[in-house]
Amino acid sequence: MKRGIIHKAALSVLGFAVLLGSATVCADEFTDKDLERWQKEFMSVVKQGDELFHGGLKSKNTVSCDQCHPNATSIHPETYPKFQQQLGKVAVLGEMINWCIMNPLESDPLALNDPKMVALQAYIHWERKDKPLAPGKH
Ligand code: HEC
Repeated sequence: MKRGIIHKAALSVLGFAVLLGSATVCADEFTDKDLERWQKEFMSVVKQGDELFHGGLKSKNTVSCDQCHPNATSIHPETYPKFQQQLGKVAVLGEMINWCIMNPLESDPLALNDPKMVALQAYIHWERKDKPLAPGKH
């Protein structure tokens, strides 16, 4: 009986130590310098997306996104996933970007994790960053 109590006490001390340990790990996970570097990296991808959107994608028929969407503020990334009539299903933003790449731009679709696709999405989301999320909205 006594032994059991000691055991429990030892276990809670151990639990406390583990908690303390993980708190330290969390606090050390990133520094201001890391944040600065990540933000810089993110903004460089946004810039690539901006360039791709404004002609850099070099589509087969030379049409570019900005001929129909002057900039990404006229696109609504915050409403995805949503039902898209052109696709006949609930789609993510990348699928709709590919619809435009395959139809108006008459080019080959990008893999959803293609760096160009990531960059286009980073740019489009960045342009609308202040809009509240509204999944499914039309
Ligand atoms: C010839 C005109 C045209 C071009 C060029 C074009 N699009 Fe579109 N885009 C459309 C049309 C039409 C729609 C459908 C509008 C709708 O149903 O919401 C659309 C819709 C979209 C949507 C969904 C918008 C929303 O609010 O749901 C995205 C995202 C999009 N386009 C991205 C692109 C990107 C990225 C490019 C360049 C790779 C591009 N588009 C090129 C005509 C174009």
